Amino acid sequence: MQSLAKGGVLMSSISIIGSGAVGQSHGEYLTTLGHDVIYYDISVESLSKIQNRQTTVSLEQALIKSEVSFICVPTAFKKEFDKSALLDVINQMVHLLEKKGHHHLVVIKSTVLPGTTEKDIQPLLKGLDVSLCVNPEFMTEISQSWTNDRSYQISAYNEARIVIGSSNKEAGDEVAKLYSASKVPIIHTDIKTAEMCKYAANCNLAMKISYWNEIHLLCVKLDIDSNIVAKIAAMDPRIGAYGTVHGKAFGGKCLPKDLKSLISLAESLGEPELLRAVDAINEKMKKSHGVRE
Ligand SMILES: NC(=O)c1ccc[n+]([C@@H]2O[C@H](COP(=O)([O-])OP(=O)(O)OC[C@H]3O[C@@H](n4cnc5c(N)ncnc54)[C@H](O)[C@@H]3O)[C@@H](O)[C@H]2O)c1
Repeated sequence: MQSLAKGGVLMSSISIIGSGAVGQSHGEYLTTLGHDVIYYDISVESLSKIQNRQTTVSLEQALIKSEVSFICVPTAFKKEFDKSALLDVINQMVHLLEKKGHHHLVVIKSTVLPGTTEKDIQPLLKGLDVSLCVNPEFMTEISQSWTNDRSYQISAYNEARIVIGSSNKEAGDEVAKLYSASKVPIIHTDIKTAEMCKYAANCNLAMKISYWNEIHLLCVKLDIDSNIVAKIAAMDPRIGAYGTVHGKAFGGKCLPKDLKSLISLAESLGEPELLRAVDAINEKMKKSHGVRE
């Protein structure tokens, strides 16, 4: 059910499917934009962290109470890209959306390898009155193990761009309308391009960290303070500060698994020499210097 919220913004009822770090952060942002958000998760523990908001452990309730669903379930790397949680939840949704019998907008926020949505998800939703889009998440969690500087923390509020991948303009516009109260620039692409944007961005960040770790190892041998070198280099806007925070392997929930997933895709298509080197340096740093989370 759509109605007008404060400031004339069209309010939508939205379900967050998978209410972990991304689901909670994005749900809060959508609430700020004036939407009515319900959080669904299979984990009671995840939902218990959400205060003063509608939550449910029933996927059916989440879908009945919403016209839009943002899918924020985990995607892992376990010898290969693991999309099992995503396929599991989409398979359950097919049956429930069929039963509901109304138009529904499904937005994939989970990080998925290029081709996943068109090859694995679109066919499952065929025949339903569903619009399907990909809207990658670019948030960055910071932790004291690598920096206390909050300027590195990215969330929907200070994001550089909102990317919406769709196979038709109407579907893309449906998602863009949800962000009409946002000041962040919106870029429309096809589905595969949107999926690739996320990997290209994360693997670039990973590459910068491995690069600066290699410079660090060289500086140690030459008795040079790599922090001074990095600070001076980062003053050049073409280089920037993020990757120059060096000295440990990159860790956290995303960079290692997204890099390894992209390598596995790239290996099926050619020889990803640079991506492999980024990973090899990181594995070496993990053993010798530990991991920044
Ligand atoms: N954490 C980040 O900074 C970040 C940034 C950008 C993109 N991403 C991507 O977003 C996705 C989610 O990441 P996250 O960090 O929020 O993960 P998370 O582990 O914090 O949260 C995932 C949530 O999904 C729930 N879940 C698992 N299987 C489910 C199912 N079948 N049905 C319903 N809920 C289910 C889990 O219980 C958990 O609460 C991943 O694809 C990740 O790569 C994460």
